[in-house]
Amino acid sequence: MSNNTQFATKIGLIAATVGSAVGLGNVWRFPVLAQSNGGAAFLLVYIACVFILGIPVMMAEFSLGRGGQSDAVGSFMNVTPCKKWWMVGAIAISASYLILCYYMVVAGWTMEYLWQSITGDLYTTLNSATEIDSTQFALKMKEYIVDDINPLIFTYIMIAANFVVLLCGVKKGIERLSNILMPMLFILLIIFGCVSLSLPKANEGLQFFLNPDFSKINGSVIINAMGQAFFSLSLGMGILITYASYYPKTTILSRTAVTVSLLDMTVAIMMGIIIFPAVTSFGLTGESLEGPSLVFSTLPSIFAQMPLTQLWSTLFFLFLMVAALTSTISIAEVSVAFMQDRFNMKRWKACLIVITPLFIFSSLCSLSQGSLGNMTVMGLTLFDLFDTIATNILLPTASILLCIYMGWIAPKSFFKGELTNYGTVKSRVFNIVLFIVRFVAPVLIATILIAHFIK
Ligand code: PFF
Repeated sequence: MSNNTQFATKIGLIAATVGSAVGLGNVWRFPVLAQSNGGAAFLLVYIACVFILGIPVMMAEFSLGRGGQSDAVGSFMNVTPCKKWWMVGAIAISASYLILCYYMVVAGWTMEYLWQSITGDLYTTLNSATEIDSTQFALKMKEYIVDDINPLIFTYIMIAANFVVLLCGVKKGIERLSNILMPMLFILLIIFGCVSLSLPKANEGLQFFLNPDFSKINGSVIINAMGQAFFSLSLGMGILITYASYYPKTTILSRTAVTVSLLDMTVAIMMGIIIFPAVTSFGLTGESLEGPSLVFSTLPSIFAQMPLTQLWSTLFFLFLMVAALTSTISIAEVSVAFMQDRFNMKRWKACLIVITPLFIFSSLCSLSQGSLGNMTVMGLTLFDLFDTIATNILLPTASILLCIYMGWIAPKSFFKGELTNYGTVKSRVFNIVLFIVRFVAPVLIATILIAHFIK
């Protein structure tokens, strides 16, 4: 079935796609990786990975989606009807659904922290006799996240919010929301950048993040940077195929890929510029900079030491929640579009079928942080199991196969046609993009996949 939904404006389609890309990956994954992989050296390799790998693969996904005019499975079917390559789309959809189950839980945490910042509860029960440090917030984080009931309530609110936006549709739901939230997100980012740079000792943190030491670059830095580029740009999940199927025929795909990637990279770099000066200014050590504890314990301990604690905390968790919400919506839209297009379903029915199971799966992921923590598979909680299967195995596999498909299986005239809008846009870069998609990207992504197994 061909899909005739479209984004209404150029700004709207960029806002929606950037909304998908900018998420928790930029806010906590990027600074954490930068910290443990040599700071500026990692930043340089990351930028190279985005240009060499991320942008060409994004162009391939956009071309498949816009040309295929359907969901992540249907687009393969429409471009090469007699072949079984639609299975690649099925892998991407499975990966995206697994990710959705636990990403929704983290999105719930961001909302819980926003609520606790607004009410002031995050800061009121601190032991004022002792000096504020991140251990107090680490305990609070345990209290909030390990608790069985509260995280569930906030996760359900997030699931319901996703349902409402998805139900309103692509134009009136996703696009309209992104048009409001994305500018807000960038304004908040600039405010935080200014605050962080005005802190004493900001320079020290900035030096670490922006002064490269090339001796730090090694194989694992490169593998981590490649993995982060894919995660952050939402590649290999069917999101970009699905969103591109809503792009009008006049959209210049190469330009859109560059714009989206640059904006996503800007947010990641800004996060580094915000976090490193703040961490050094408040004398917090490297070990506080790890995964969720960076945003849920290190940063609150910084806010607690600043004037206007509640205001900064509320603004930050609002920022984080917006970033998480627009990403969850894009991940869920992959499955909604699949249901709608493959089974000829009304949108409300597709939304219901995709969203309802989340109440069960996300609950299990949430409880696996608390009372179901003992329930493990291969030593992993359900939360970590979903993450490992999706991001370490399914995403790279889908990306390799997608590159092989666009590089070798789909007609070259199709890929070139979509990237050049069938001759109306100059195609100076097409041959380079094709070379990367055919040879460079599959080999490099396979390296990430193998590296995960060796680890
Ligand atoms: N790109 C978003 C982020 O960086 O958070 C959304 C996302 C993409 C999440 C890919 C997870 C993922 F594996």
